[in-house]
Amino acid sequence: MKYNFDQIINRENTNSTKWDPDTLKEMFGTSDILPFWVADMDFKVADPIVDAVVKRAEHGIYGYATRTDSYFDAIINWTRNRFKWDIEKEWIEYTPGVVPAINFILQAFTKPGDKVLIQEPVYYPFKRSINNNNLKVVNSPLKYDGEKYEIDFVDLEEKIKDQDIKIFILCNPHNPVGKVWDKEDLIKIGNLCLENDVLVVSDEIHNDLVYSGNTHTMFASISEKFAMNSITCTAPSKTFNLAGMQASNIIIPNPKLMEEYRQVLEKHNISGQNPLSIVALEAAYNYGEEWLEELLIYLEGNIEFIFNYLIEHLPKAKFIKPEGTYLAWVDLREYEMNGERLEKTIIEKGKVAFDGGTWFGENGEGFIRINFACPRSLLEEGLSRLVNAVNRL
Ligand SMILES: Cc1ncc(COP(=O)(O)O)c(C=O)c1O
Repeated sequence: MKYNFDQIINRENTNSTKWDPDTLKEMFGTSDILPFWVADMDFKVADPIVDAVVKRAEHGIYGYATRTDSYFDAIINWTRNRFKWDIEKEWIEYTPGVVPAINFILQAFTKPGDKVLIQEPVYYPFKRSINNNNLKVVNSPLKYDGEKYEIDFVDLEEKIKDQDIKIFILCNPHNPVGKVWDKEDLIKIGNLCLENDVLVVSDEIHNDLVYSGNTHTMFASISEKFAMNSITCTAPSKTFNLAGMQASNIIIPNPKLMEEYRQVLEKHNISGQNPLSIVALEAAYNYGEEWLEELLIYLEGNIEFIFNYLIEHLPKAKFIKPEGTYLAWVDLREYEMNGERLEKTIIEKGKVAFDGGTWFGENGEGFIRINFACPRSLLEEGLSRLVNAVNRL
């Protein structure tokens, strides 16, 4: 291995949202807490990214920046090589994040009061964005039998057919449950949405973080019809730990949809880009693959570590190994059904910060989400704090 993911790097005084004492105090009521919440990694990025950013920074002029062909080629080649989907430069738009893009999409393709479908438990900014844009959330909860998560297609079909849904925000791989949806599932979703005139927004920000035995299928790559009825969101942010660089790829093969989306971007004056993020994205996609392959092995080791640790120390916890994402969704309901009490105890007695299950929807109650993209020794400390808290419930 070329990269040392065991290395602990102090992130204090680097404006890290995850580690900043004031942010922790605001989020968890205390800054004396070890953070495993917001989804970025405590690992240094791939060397070629650092080199590219340093070189650009040393130039010393940070004026307005524009994207050139090499930027688009980096995204196009990555998407073809990793996912066998051929995309074109004209299909790619930039926004400073997937969540902003989702908001722009909602503004472009809905009017107040329209309905947008999500599948809880799910990444909570989806619901927040829907509400903030004066739209209505329709939830088709995932089915969970204690062993696996599945899409409840009976419920989904009923809601899509009967409720005049305008947009379906699909999360694939799914945060927080870690599912990488099968091609068959995606085909069923795609057909249902086509038949009922529902636009699919496929948030695939975690698509590179998929573990052995699983294959990520990009929704729009399945068929021309799906491509024409969807907007795909990807980014180097989760994959290469570049979230703070704020660059995401919004892929819209349908020119009419692209035109409508661009009108909203223009309204908000979203066009230029941070020059450091341009070189970071290019370096990541062009030269970051070796780092990513090593990272995936390390993260898979962390999954095994959590699995074994919980069996030994919290035997009543249920943890389904994620197929994708660096997020562990742990069911602690056999210890505590009351989500508020569980989350409070973990913060106050454990002094450890996870995302609370309730953040992701009602059916997240009694769960926590652990961000395990960190050195294993840190993860071990976090888990031991969790055990300590649960034992004091
Ligand atoms: C599913 C999903 N979408 C979007 C984001 C965030 O995207 P961005 O930082 O590009 O707005 C996250 C971050 O955790 C995520 O998990």
